[in-house]
Amino acid sequence: MPTDSVDPGYLDMDRIPRHVGCVMDGNGRWAEQRGMARTEGHARGEHALFDVIEGALELGIEWLSVYAFSTENWNRPEDEVRFLMNFNRNILRSRCEELNQMGVRIRFVGRRDWRVPKGVVQEMDEAIELTRCNKRLTLVVAFNYGGRAEIVDAVRKIAEQQIPASRITERTIARHLYDQEMPEPDLIIRTSGEYRISNFLLWELAYSELVFTDVLWPDFDRRDLFAAIAQYQDRHRRFGQVQ
Ligand code: FPP
Repeated sequence: MPTDSVDPGYLDMDRIPRHVGCVMDGNGRWAEQRGMARTEGHARGEHALFDVIEGALELGIEWLSVYAFSTENWNRPEDEVRFLMNFNRNILRSRCEELNQMGVRIRFVGRRDWRVPKGVVQEMDEAIELTRCNKRLTLVVAFNYGGRAEIVDAVRKIAEQQIPASRITERTIARHLYDQEMPEPDLIIRTSGEYRISNFLLWELAYSELVFTDVLWPDFDRRDLFAAIAQYQDRHRRFGQVQ
């Protein structure tokens, strides 16, 4: 449900995370609980996503990354995979202008392999191009994305450059990940009561704070985003040090 009037006044505006990642889980279960087709849950998930984007803009979050389609999602029934491809393409087509007006820059992480339909690739490229100069918020859509695949792809690029093994450091790996500019996430939120990362931003989340909530993604909105940030602000990030 859109929640335009929620006041995030209880948050410390000086400690808003720069990058928030979302594992948008529970769309299928949300629909099944209501006797609807799983695809209805995805459709409701789109509303949730847009409310969260508005909440992120309100708080001045700079980067929001969302897990739209994982490398494992290809194993879903063929109908659902087809639906999800069309769904993602349609969102990009129908909401890109709106996101552009809102000052959102759209980026993608993931593999652009033969399985991704050409129409989807085209919408992705158009969304990137249309929004590339926007500065308010960068929305990173993880599409055909897997954290392990990202690390494998980084290692392949490094091997292709024949960089000597002794010169490979963590920085070398980081410099070969999909998005060079994306900061590491400060906070990762996973909905639907599952306490897993499921291959999302594996390298980048080494020091991220993790917040899990029982709310199913279609019911998630900016209020839940603010509540997750309140939890984040209650934590003491030590990055492995004693402080
Ligand atoms: C998981 O629910 C959710 C997805 C597979 C995709 C959701 C995608 C969106 C909401 C929008 C994508 C956005 C853009 C900008 C292209 P699930 O089916 O795994 O739920 P379940 O665990 O209950 O089965």
